[in-house]
Amino acid sequence: MRSLIDILDLSTAEIEELTVMAEDIIARPDAYAHRMAGKKLATLFFEPSTRTRMSFEAAMYDLGGNVISMASAGSSSAAKGESVADTVKTVSCYADIIAMRHPKEGAALVAAKNAGVPVINAGDGGHCHPTQTLADLLTIKREKGRFSNLVVGLCGDLKFGRTVHSLIQALARYEGVKFVLISPEELKVPSYVKRDVLARRGIPYEQTTDLLGVLPDLDILYMTRVQRERFFNEEDYLRLKDRYILTPEKLKAAREDLSIMHPLPRVNEISVAIDADPRACYFKQVKNGKFMRMALILKLMEEAGK
Ligand code: NCD
Repeated sequence: MRSLIDILDLSTAEIEELTVMAEDIIARPDAYAHRMAGKKLATLFFEPSTRTRMSFEAAMYDLGGNVISMASAGSSSAAKGESVADTVKTVSCYADIIAMRHPKEGAALVAAKNAGVPVINAGDGGHCHPTQTLADLLTIKREKGRFSNLVVGLCGDLKFGRTVHSLIQALARYEGVKFVLISPEELKVPSYVKRDVLARRGIPYEQTTDLLGVLPDLDILYMTRVQRERFFNEEDYLRLKDRYILTPEKLKAAREDLSIMHPLPRVNEISVAIDADPRACYFKQVKNGKFMRMALILKLMEEAGK
């Protein structure tokens, strides 16, 4: 049974296929409006979410399918001590496909091994978030027209930010991509990502604490929030949370064709005054996320013979 746990579970050809399908869904929504009729998606979110859960649900409805979901982790049997394995075995009896978010790294893999239906990782702790990357990739394709030859700045909490880890893995497969990793010392990209992805593939990257110094070089600036829920103490969070705040003043140093991205939710790291700037892409990412999730659901369901 094919699941999506990690973005590298998809080949570059399959990513291309999904972006092409998502663009076709955007162009011809009616052609897809009944494709999942009679099918059910279950959303299991053991951590807070607005966009990811709702976009999965909207995606399934826009394909003519139905959705069942857990009201919250606290009101599910997880609160009684049920394991992820038992929960997904149960949910597989009701649903044709599962989208799951969990605070523990590796939980989605455990779910996929135990479910009788495809499982989509909607975020596992500070590890990865492949469907946000699909949203990011469609946005990059539509904004830049390519995945290759890009200077990509990633800024903020690069240690705990799972969207960053998945996006690096995805973009590292294309020619001529250079990463500029902008973070406080304490929140640098984990060494396993640098070693297993960047160094192994010989991808050029630079680490810095200075956003303004590198801003003029960037094609893409991907901002992230400091992940409060993954900190061991509140003091460190408070010290680091407002280290990078993108303002119109700072943006004067940036290129005219910069794309400003953010997986959202935003806390303080992008001034709302930037929302009206044509370079701001974060609400486009939200829209694109639903279409990529539609394409992904169709692909996994087709492969599962459903
Ligand atoms: C991200 C996440 O959950 O990792 N949110 C999202 O799904 N768009 C980013 C975040 O929470 O900071």
